Amino acid sequence: MVVLGALPPLGHELLGKRFVVDAGGHPAGAAGIVTDPSIPVDAEFLDEAGSFLEVVANFGVGYDNIDLDAARARGVRVTNTPGVLTNATAELAVALMLAAARRIAEADATVRSGEWARSDANELIGRELAGATVGLVGFGRIARRVAQLLRGFDVRLLFTSRSSGTPSAGLERLDLPDLLAASDFVSVHVPLTAETRHLIGANALAAMKPGAILVNTSRGAVVDTPALIHALRSGRLGAAGLDVYEDEPHVPSELRELRGTVLLPHIGSATAATRNAMARLCAENVIAVIDGRDPPTPVV
Ligand code: 8YV
Repeated sequence: MVVLGALPPLGHELLGKRFVVDAGGHPAGAAGIVTDPSIPVDAEFLDEAGSFLEVVANFGVGYDNIDLDAARARGVRVTNTPGVLTNATAELAVALMLAAARRIAEADATVRSGEWARSDANELIGRELAGATVGLVGFGRIARRVAQLLRGFDVRLLFTSRSSGTPSAGLERLDLPDLLAASDFVSVHVPLTAETRHLIGANALAAMKPGAILVNTSRGAVVDTPALIHALRSGRLGAAGLDVYEDEPHVPSELRELRGTVLLPHIGSATAATRNAMARLCAENVIAVIDGRDPPTPVV
């Protein structure tokens, strides 16, 4: 068993009870490989791993790093860790909405730098969620949890969804341009696919309300970074709260220089309880496939 990437100790422990685990080793000859979304798994990778490979278990819900067709063609199962990270990621999206709206990172920096005594009381004026319209782009598990968490905030909630029958008590389903035009906060919750790459590009950003706040906890490449930088620099967008980037861990200096951005290092699922639940599910997926059973959360 080869473990590449971010699997926590619990995952190593559970796998170690059943297999010889090679952490950070070469995939050649492995029956199973644990990856995370930062590790590209393409046809070449799978061929290097060889014909003993039965399962690639991704430590994460997103699997845009994996070429599913290449896995299918080689009879390799692919698994992910949905569900267990829904709440942690949704809470982080709400945290980013509040942090960007109330300028929490800037305010914190003011205190740390000793500037507080000299600052003007009219600096760091923010906005409230109450009374605002929040648009959720995508309406899967994480977006639904965000909607639930926001119930107490007195917001109007909008969402986009590919499926027309989406249940939506108290929420309004709109198409993307209408949602963007109506929302004070836009939070992105779609997986990265060929269709969603740069979904939030120059046109989408231009369709947003002047001064609106963009939050992204899904995948960086759903947003076109240069277009976002332009929209923030020009003042067209009020602020952004980002946990994900197009080329992680690289974050463009233009983004880092902007005061109205809150920038986090991809910590959506980073709570002890969630990471352990992900590790457990990841290990259960591997063990099930090797034992010839259906894994609990298969992708392929
Ligand atoms: C990562 C994520 O898996 O679940 C996902 O899709 O992007 C994260 O939870 C985690 O950061 C480990 O790399």
